[in-house]
Amino acid sequence: MIGAAQDWLEARVPFDDAARQQSLPLLDRAAQALLAADPTGRTPLTVVDLGAGTGKSAAWFRRHLSPRLPGRSINWLLVDAHEPSLEIATQHLTDADTVVTPLSDLPAALDNHLPERPAPGTLLLTCSAVLDVLTQDDVEAILTTLTTHHGVGLFLLSITADWHLEPADPRDPELAQAFADHQRRDGKLGAEGGEAMLRTARERGIHTTHGNSAWQLNAPRDTEFTRRFLTERVAAAVEASPELEVEARDWLETRNRQAADHLNVTVDHCDVLVDARRDH
Ligand SMILES: C[S@@+](CC[C@H](N)C(=O)[O-])C[C@H]1O[C@@H](n2cnc3c(N)ncnc32)[C@H](O)[C@@H]1O
Repeated sequence: MIGAAQDWLEARVPFDDAARQQSLPLLDRAAQALLAADPTGRTPLTVVDLGAGTGKSAAWFRRHLSPRLPGRSINWLLVDAHEPSLEIATQHLTDADTVVTPLSDLPAALDNHLPERPAPGTLLLTCSAVLDVLTQDDVEAILTTLTTHHGVGLFLLSITADWHLEPADPRDPELAQAFADHQRRDGKLGAEGGEAMLRTARERGIHTTHGNSAWQLNAPRDTEFTRRFLTERVAAAVEASPELEVEARDWLETRNRQAADHLNVTVDHCDVLVDARRDH
């Protein structure tokens, strides 16, 4: 997916923000790694939000990272393949630079923005809701950038294959599988995105940590968002498995009714911290 719908990115914000409360321990560890690498705090830090879209995730990282790195000068860089999204992002994050590039070209695309001989721990790569839409080549490019610059990577909210609906419906697993198939189209990692990042980093001998940051959608508070979320999931599932169309339509009608009063949905996400500083 290049360029997610702007109103969808906007609608997600409260749910992403709530889920990322669970990511704060990993954010703390990332900040500690950056502080430990330069106890004087004099070397400017570069934070690059990958797949930044309209800037919602970068705004969250900035809000939560700045107090953890007091007094530190931070250059913000937003990277995405979709230029119109980045134009919106810079209306809010006015001091951030942007780079329009596919992530598979990341090391070269950042050349002009990062020092040739970087001090370890002066680069943080972040992303949120992005690993699952990437390919293995993108993951390799991100890790190459991190190892070249001895940086730290914090990759949040990568969707996994697990979602739990309460009450359960016997058709849930089949539709979840069809959605997972849709997410893997065109060589994308889909639900394996977080796992692929962890595995590939470990294969390169890079230290990793991981966590979970599920969305919790509860009726009746979240009726509108839950309906939109399920409608888009079902559309994707049917695109991957057209034979499910009738069943999926019936399932969606039932779920939309339940979303008004008693449906609770948990959507699991994986968080990954990658520490590619030389010494840790
Ligand atoms: C779900 S959106 C997340 C946006 C933002 N991180 C947020 O949380 O609001 C995924 C973003 O990744 C970008 N993207 C997807 N694949 C990409 C790729 N291969 N290279 C660069 N950007 C990509 C899309 O254009 C989109 O803006």
